[in-house]
Amino acid sequence: MTYFVCRCFFTNNIFLKKYNLHVSYHDIQQLERDYLQVLRKRGCDTEEKLQEVRDEIEREVDRRKRLGDDSLKRKEIISTKYRPLHPDIYCLKDEYLSPEFLDLVRYCKSNDTADYNEVFGRINVCKADRVYTFPFFTSEFCHLFVDEMEHFEANDCPKGRPNTMNKYGVLLNEIGFDENFLTPLRENYLTPLTSVLFPDWGGGNLDSHKAFVVKYKLGEDTDLNYHYDNAEVTLNVSMGKDFTGGELYFGDMFDPRSASKQNARFTENSHVPTIALLHRGRHRHGAWPITSGERYNLIIWMRSSEVRNACCPMCYNEPDLISTKGFGDGFTKKGNIVEVCTV
Ligand SMILES: [Fe+2]
Ligand SMILES: [Zn+2]
Repeated sequence: MTYFVCRCFFTNNIFLKKYNLHVSYHDIQQLERDYLQVLRKRGCDTEEKLQEVRDEIEREVDRRKRLGDDSLKRKEIISTKYRPLHPDIYCLKDEYLSPEFLDLVRYCKSNDTADYNEVFGRINVCKADRVYTFPFFTSEFCHLFVDEMEHFEANDCPKGRPNTMNKYGVLLNEIGFDENFLTPLRENYLTPLTSVLFPDWGGGNLDSHKAFVVKYKLGEDTDLNYHYDNAEVTLNVSMGKDFTGGELYFGDMFDPRSASKQNARFTENSHVPTIALLHRGRHRHGAWPITSGERYNLIIWMRSSEVRNACCPMCYNEPDLISTKGFGDGFTKKGNIVEVCTV
């Protein structure tokens, strides 16, 4: 199996945390032409600071180039060295899922044409457009899962981090959660629901995913900047522990062809452990800072090759595919081309 990323992975959407800015980078001249003004406004006002920015971007591009290789090496080491604390939870069982969610999946599966109103009656329809929450895991499972994440963090295996916005957290495929937990969860439990809620975003054909855990704690990462996901549909589950703050907020849909609209932003109370929130990956969002405690979230970026083969969610063009080691970003070489850049 060959996996692919879009060429834009090496140039686009590079996050400069210090200046709260996502940039594209092709060369120094372009960087200065496109961003010098805004960088200066945000305090990058000396040649020295600008050089730091260039160095940071180069380090990030270099990290992305090695990402697939590095991830496979870590997975290999972890599979031989790491001893899970709760080995049972690496294999999905119905008893880990809330009875309400199991009922909902049963309903979606039993009806070829599931009734929207019936589904909406079983989930919470949020203020933000097409954002939904519903009970997902049991609290017993959430405890075991967070316990496992803390156990992994405390051992000395190599650790990859989810992305440039989260320095703390765990890439779940590297520790072995994909095969018997996340893939069946996506295929057998989530797709029946997303095919009703997001048919226009590949919800019926989510054929790969990238899953990770993010952790927020005072003194570490506390919040998450406004962004969109490399996903068609995202599932975000609050896993615990005890915390205050940290709510998710939603704004407008990412669309590079229209000037950034400052739509109203809605804050959703998605921070109750065991509750999941579903949204479109392109729906821009962020997380308010936590104000106390520790917060763990399980994030599953679900991808539809059919949708992204036609339009890369990150550069908004037909993807320029590059084969990669590791698991790529959900593109395939064959796939039905559908017009989604115009959705
Ligand atoms: Fe996100
Ligand atoms: Zn792209």
